[in-house]
Amino acid sequence: MKTKTKKVTKILVAPSILSADPLKLEGEAKRMEKAGADLLHVDVMDGKFVERTVFGIETAKKLKKATKLPLDVHLMICEPWKVVKEYAKAGASRICVHVEAGSAQQILKTIKLIKSAGCKAGVAIKPDTPLESIDTRILKECDFIMPMTVNPGASGQPLIEEVLLKIARLQVLLYKMKLEKQLEGDGGINSSTAAWFGRLGVTVLVSGAGIFHSKYAKRAIMQLRKAAGQVK
Ligand code: DX5
Ligand code: ZN
Repeated sequence: MKTKTKKVTKILVAPSILSADPLKLEGEAKRMEKAGADLLHVDVMDGKFVERTVFGIETAKKLKKATKLPLDVHLMICEPWKVVKEYAKAGASRICVHVEAGSAQQILKTIKLIKSAGCKAGVAIKPDTPLESIDTRILKECDFIMPMTVNPGASGQPLIEEVLLKIARLQVLLYKMKLEKQLEGDGGINSSTAAWFGRLGVTVLVSGAGIFHSKYAKRAIMQLRKAAGQVK
């Protein structure tokens, strides 16, 4: 008798340390590990690509020492090709750069640099940037794509619902190109919005306020996975 094997979607949850108490980053990273997170999302802002300046290589090194969680570094910076190797050396497992941060040639080169340093390479795209701005060579070369659902720069913002349609269009585009890419969601993800991401095939969920501002991080993480469709 044939037994049917049901495909189980694995949802990875990545708490964004941007929402943690800035005076207790290492402790907060440990708390997320204990709460069952899969990754630790580290936002890096340079005061140019976005207004704020926050976190850098030293913070990444400290977080790497503080936790076993793989670091998911989101570079909201100009000229990311100058620093990606340093972040890889600091212990990042995944590094994501913005498509708006340079020319297609420069971003493609950066993606290749990240991969040659042994990390998974991602490309992020702001809510207002059209999908067509991602060069097809970048789509082919990257390991994951992060269509942002808030404008980069701050945590705790409400999700921009129109971007969900863009994610659906991205999935159609990937299907037509016969590409299988991991999608990561970042911005306004909480237990009420996670289901939309699950429906759209987004399997990595970044959440700042949704986890750090909830009373029980463990429960918040489990709720995100469940809402996004993970059965076990
Ligand atoms: C925004 C950052 C996000 C942010 C998410 O620029 O890239 O990672 O911390 O925070 P929430 O989940 O609160 O929107
Ligand atoms: Zn981020």
